[in-house]
Amino acid sequence: MTSAPMQGKVALVTGATSGIGAAVAEALAERGAHTLVAGRDAGRGEAVVGGIEKRGGSADFVGADLRDAESVRRFARDALGRGGGRVDILVNNAGIYPFGPTEETEERLYDTVYALNVKAPFYLVAELAPGMADRGGGAIVNVSTTAAAVGFPGMALYGSSKAAVNLLTKAWAAEYGPRGVRVNAVQVGPTRTETTARTEENLQRLAAQAPAQRPAAAAEVAAAIVYLADDGTSSFVQGAVLPVDGGRVAV
Ligand SMILES: NC(=O)c1ccc[n+]([C@@H]2O[C@H](COP(=O)([O-])OP(=O)(O)OC[C@H]3O[C@@H](n4cnc5c(N)ncnc54)[C@H](OP(=O)(O)O)[C@@H]3O)[C@@H](O)[C@H]2O)c1
Repeated sequence: MTSAPMQGKVALVTGATSGIGAAVAEALAERGAHTLVAGRDAGRGEAVVGGIEKRGGSADFVGADLRDAESVRRFARDALGRGGGRVDILVNNAGIYPFGPTEETEERLYDTVYALNVKAPFYLVAELAPGMADRGGGAIVNVSTTAAAVGFPGMALYGSSKAAVNLLTKAWAAEYGPRGVRVNAVQVGPTRTETTARTEENLQRLAAQAPAQRPAAAAEVAAAIVYLADDGTSSFVQGAVLPVDGGRVAV
C-alpha cells in the first residue's frame, strides 16, 4: 500500500460482493481501512476479501440479506463485532434496479425494491450512526442514481426509491451532522458492473445522453465515494448529493 490515511478506521460497505461496492471496498482498504465486505454471496464476498488481502489490505466478509429490519439489526451487530466494536465509515451501496412499466409492476417487486434500497439503509443508519456520534465522528455515503433526479420512463419505482435516499441524505446530515457524523450521497450515472454489462445496449443508450458519452468504470464511482468518506478530503462537505454521472444532470 502506498499511503494509509484511513489506518485505524473500520469501513462497512454493503453490496460489496460485486460492481461498485467491490470497487469501493478495494479503494477503502487501499487507504488503510479495515474493510467489511457485505452481501449475501459468501463465495463472491470471500473473493473480494482475498483480493484485498493479496494487496496487503485488511478485510472481512459479513453476510446478510438486508431486506428486513431485524436482519439489518443483526447484521449491524455482526459488523460491529468484526470491527472491534466500531464502524467509522458506512457506504450504503447495496441496491437493485429493476426497470419496467409502472402498470406491470407487481406489489412483491415494489416491496423488495423499497426494502433493499430504502429500508435497509434507514435501519443501518439507525443502528450505526449513534455509535459514530458517541465515538466523536464518522462518515456515511449513500449510493443514489441519476434516475432519482430525472424522470426516465420505466424507472419510476427505482428512481423514487433513490429519491428517498437523496432526501434521507439531507435529513441525516441535519440529524447527525451536529454530532460529528458527515452524511453525503453520490448520484451515479450508468456504470459498467457485472449486472449492467448484461444489458450492454441499455447501458450505452443511457450513457449517450451525457456529455461524457460513455459509461463509468466502477473505480471512477468508487473514487468519488472515497472522497466523501474521507475526513481528510471532504471534512466540510455535509448533506451533499454529488452527481457522478458524466455530466448528465447538467444538460
Ligand atoms: N451500475 C449502475 O449503472 C448504477 C447506476 C446508478 C446507481 N447505481 C447504484 O449503485 C449500487 C450498486 O450497483 P451495481 O451495479 O454495482 O450493483 P450489482 O453489481 O448488481 O451489485 C449489487 C450488490 O448488492 C447486493 N445485494 C443485492 N441484493 C441484496 C440483498 N437482498 N441483501 C444484501 N445485499 C444485496 C449484491 O450482493 P449479493 O448478490 O452477494 O447479495 C451485490 O453486492 C446500487 O445501489 C445501484 O442502484 C448503479
